[in-house]
Amino acid sequence: MCEHDRRFDSCQARQIGAAVSTVTAAEFTWPLGDDAVLIPRTAAIAEAHFALVQANYQRLAQWFGDAYQEPPVLEETRANLVEAGQGWLNGSLLPLSIAVKADNGWRLVGWAQLEINRQARSAEIGYWLDTDFVGRGLISRTVTAVLDHAFGPLALLRVGLCTTIDNTRSRNVAERMGFTQEGVLREAAAFPTEHRDLVIYGLLAREWRSTTRADATPRR
Ligand SMILES: CC(C)(COP(=O)(O)OP(=O)(O)OC[C@H]1O[C@@H](n2cnc3c(N)ncnc32)[C@H](O)[C@@H]1OP(=O)(O)O)[C@@H](O)C(=O)NCCC(=O)NCCS
Repeated sequence: MCEHDRRFDSCQARQIGAAVSTVTAAEFTWPLGDDAVLIPRTAAIAEAHFALVQANYQRLAQWFGDAYQEPPVLEETRANLVEAGQGWLNGSLLPLSIAVKADNGWRLVGWAQLEINRQARSAEIGYWLDTDFVGRGLISRTVTAVLDHAFGPLALLRVGLCTTIDNTRSRNVAERMGFTQEGVLREAAAFPTEHRDLVIYGLLAREWRSTTRADATPRR
């Protein structure tokens, strides 16, 4: 774990050899306890999000066959965030960054989103973390907050989650949150040099409501 510098994320700056920072200000935050928040992932945080992707894309490429296969380009990142912001406005996407407190703002440490089909009242959840922040329960907290919103104010009936069959950490998240494994799509995940099996999970509103908070709320 690298020490956190006041101005820059020194760990990531060292990795990419440039003075980019994952620390940003935020107009709006959605608390995840005392030490972490969710922030709308829009063009307002383009530079910090770009820095986070730049530091993580090579690792993410092994889990997302359709993304992160090339180094990010700032203007493309910004354009994607503009699109994400539009999705937020039109109700088709809940685009989020996960952040922890920094001396001069919020340090972005992860990504989460809910792709929403209003007509079907269903959605698909996705997430990833900066490598230094894996294993602290941040995704479980994020998914708990997003599911509360999905099955609460958004009144969705179903949230799906899919992951490659060998992604043990992601499958652990799904199972910890009470998702049911619904099937395996053989060789459905296309990567540049191979196809891997995809596991489909689903969680229904009534199942989330019946989940005891002791099970759903991560340890502190
Ligand atoms: C998938 C991924 C997001 C999971 O991250 P994670 O940190 O394991 O998930 P959580 O935030 O829920 O943390 C759970 C881990 O933190 C530990 N933990 C520590 N403190 C905790 C706390 N307060 N609450 C809950 N868990 C805690 C748990 O024991 C667990 O560790 P273990 O699996 O070694 O037992 C991460 O591995 C990742 O970014 N992978 C690459 C991208 C990816 O695969 N995305 C998903 C594609 S579908």
